[in-house]
Amino acid sequence: METKKRLLTGDRPTGKLHLGHYVGSIANRVKLQDEYQCYFLIADLHMLTTKPTREDVENIGSNAREMVLDYLAAGIDPQKAAIYLQSEVHEVFEMNLFFAMLVTVPRLSRLPSLKDMARAAHLEEMPFGLLGYPVLQAADILLPRAHAVPVGKDNVAHVEITREIARRFNRQYDEVFPIPDVVVSDVPALVGTDGQAKMSKSLNNAIFLSDDAKTVRKKVFSMYTDPNRIRADIPGRVEGNPVFIYHDIFNPNQAEVEDLKLRYQAGKVGDVEVKEKLATAINNFLDPLRERREMYASQSGLVEEVIYDGTMRTREIARETLMLMRKAMGLSGVWNRIRRQTEKRRKKLAKENSS
Ligand code: TRP
Repeated sequence: METKKRLLTGDRPTGKLHLGHYVGSIANRVKLQDEYQCYFLIADLHMLTTKPTREDVENIGSNAREMVLDYLAAGIDPQKAAIYLQSEVHEVFEMNLFFAMLVTVPRLSRLPSLKDMARAAHLEEMPFGLLGYPVLQAADILLPRAHAVPVGKDNVAHVEITREIARRFNRQYDEVFPIPDVVVSDVPALVGTDGQAKMSKSLNNAIFLSDDAKTVRKKVFSMYTDPNRIRADIPGRVEGNPVFIYHDIFNPNQAEVEDLKLRYQAGKVGDVEVKEKLATAINNFLDPLRERREMYASQSGLVEEVIYDGTMRTREIARETLMLMRKAMGLSGVWNRIRRQTEKRRKKLAKENSS
């Protein structure tokens, strides 16, 4: 009997994942997958809130494939975690509508995250669907009746809405949902290779989990370091220097990192040596991911099967949740009566006709 608590989180399928995703959330998921029954959703419906065109939809398949390959490469085990396609678990549409009655428009309108998303997508006015983004997210989280939701800081307010909706549902109808806890990653956002902003695909400052060794080396060698250090014999700053931030995270050889830092601060090491050792460290870190990625990618249809099976498994618990919801709300009672009366009448008519 499955007694583990359940966990749900996920990502919009916008493409491949980078080191920032890894340290910020994927590593954490790999760690949590033993303790929890995990559900990882590919949030294609959420993607549609800002990218609804035909072309956007056409890209869902390949983006989802890349993203899931990254999950698997990072060590997410499809035996332990159900990786599923949101738009194929139809119960979420239904839950979304029920939950829409349990939250107010002003509550949603106040969320800065939605305005930010509208602005980023160059939308002049707020689409109804985008306003409902956190409601749909609540439906995702409560679909498997999740206890834990690991998300970044930007999503904490959405999980708060989920908690409010769950409480309201339980109070108004019946206790169906646990109140899910947010599990915030304490890792600060990883800075990009440009040292200017957090790592992000659109800023062109990302090292992807799927980058090959040569690409990683090239990106590391173009990294921003201490701008005041125009020669190797000038003492440099280690704090806030992206090259050393990465060394601290990805280089397991602490003695080497300490030695590089001391020499950097004393003006006794060149950028080339610091970067050469960083490129090696990141490539060593990525090697096992590359191996697993290759293992999954080389078997035709395997990634698709992982998503298929995960979706089927999620449908099971979704059906169960919806049954509990309709029962708690009294809707199943309404329909059961209609069905029973119909059956009774048909039986009676059949009997009359046969006699
Ligand atoms: N909002 C998340 C993002 O920023 C994606 C997402 C959709 C999600 N549903 C979720 C995250 C449920 C955690 C739980 O991409």
